[in-house]
Amino acid sequence: MSTSKPPIRLGLFLLADGHHVAAWRRPGRRHNPATDLGHYLEIARQAEAGFLDFLFVADFLGVRTTDTAAISHSARTLGLEPLTLLSALASATKHIGLIATASTTYNEPFHVARKFASLDLISEGRAGWNLVTSQNDPEAWNFGHERHAAHDSRYDRASEFADVVLGLWNSWQPDAIVDDAENGVFLNPEGLSVLGHKGHHFSVRGPLDIAASPQGRPIVVQAGSSDTGVALAVRTADIVFTAQPSADSAKAFYAKVKSRAAEAGRDPGSLLIMPGVAPVIGQSRSHAQEIKDELDALVHPAVGHHLLYNATGGMDLSAYPPDSLLPDALPETNGSKSRQQVLLEVARRDKLTIRQLYLMLAGARGHRYVIGTAQDVADELEHMHQDQQADGFNIMPLTLPEGLGDFVGQVVPELQRRKLVRSAYEGRTLRENLGLRPAGS
Ligand SMILES: Cc1cc2nc3c(=O)[nH]c(=O)nc-3n(C[C@H](O)[C@H](O)[C@H](O)COP(=O)(O)O)c2cc1C
Repeated sequence: MSTSKPPIRLGLFLLADGHHVAAWRRPGRRHNPATDLGHYLEIARQAEAGFLDFLFVADFLGVRTTDTAAISHSARTLGLEPLTLLSALASATKHIGLIATASTTYNEPFHVARKFASLDLISEGRAGWNLVTSQNDPEAWNFGHERHAAHDSRYDRASEFADVVLGLWNSWQPDAIVDDAENGVFLNPEGLSVLGHKGHHFSVRGPLDIAASPQGRPIVVQAGSSDTGVALAVRTADIVFTAQPSADSAKAFYAKVKSRAAEAGRDPGSLLIMPGVAPVIGQSRSHAQEIKDELDALVHPAVGHHLLYNATGGMDLSAYPPDSLLPDALPETNGSKSRQQVLLEVARRDKLTIRQLYLMLAGARGHRYVIGTAQDVADELEHMHQDQQADGFNIMPLTLPEGLGDFVGQVVPELQRRKLVRSAYEGRTLRENLGLRPAGS
């Protein structure tokens, strides 16, 4: 690439039907794609044809609600276990990075280190781990806990967890394996490190029984935006995923993470900040808006109410008609009072109905929408990149595969013309393609 400024990094945030909650109801959609490998193969190939850096598969541990109405009217309850899926995609692709979530709350670090090290070898150096601490009680119930642990204690475990995983990935030096059959020497013991970790949460001897991949170790992604999440990212991550709804919030977050990285003695360029963006691409601006409006019109009220309930951590408005304004007296929430407050302030200021309020969450879920022609979307991404809001974007098409087809077919060529993204993969591994230095250097 001929630009002196680093290129825009692009990932695909892969959700089976796409990111709009009603995408599964659109005409002509593939039947129940969430557990259909053929669907994912098509998307992975499409993303690789657009030279995207990676695709990312999120993970939530089970059906995360007991609200039968919301479950009955949503296609989000089904999926495939991400590492199993990515192993299949690895053998059908050559270049694209493969990032999956694994929870530090409901796994052991040895398991996570081993599985991602395997994916990294299977894919010849294209794996990445999105470290999360998981979200709610229904996940906890699948692991013998009554409640999901508190934020601080989850992050306390996550921090030590990350140290153990990174330590285990360091088990084998590149020259450790001699494989000299003639002289009967398989390995050089000096190239093998025994971790011997004994901490507050974990006791792990090691070493791992899987050697290093061509990229040294998998890429680490951190998706928490709280101060504790950022502190962990600065210490351990290569990429930060984040939801930033506005230019101001994105800019402030970018500046904060980069300055914390510099304070910690890191090269700020070695930590890539990639907020989510939901592009809606039409032949004209009004056409793009129509695409979104048509999906919005398909949102079932039970699903809409559930979106509000989740976003506020427990505000239940299901007793009120969707097209009414918010009632003066509102049911209490035991969850996020500040998030409830923000949503209510917007609703009262803009005189939004309950439906309008939940439609704000139906597609991008608090990430940024960019709606317009391919030219408009390219302009906005270029601006956000120049304006130090992002090093790149986690692209969240509202529908899959169509929305990705529009992005790869129209926006990527425009960005290529401006020399802002690659026109061929330049590296062998995900780390090389992201322009990151070798692990441990
Ligand atoms: C792009 C993105 C992807 C995420 N993926 C997952 C996921 O797969 N599983 C999960 O439990 N949480 C996921 N999260 C949520 C985060 O892990 C985290 O819980 C949330 O951002 C709040 O973190 P905080 O408390 O540090 O602000 C994701 C967040 C973002 C921004």
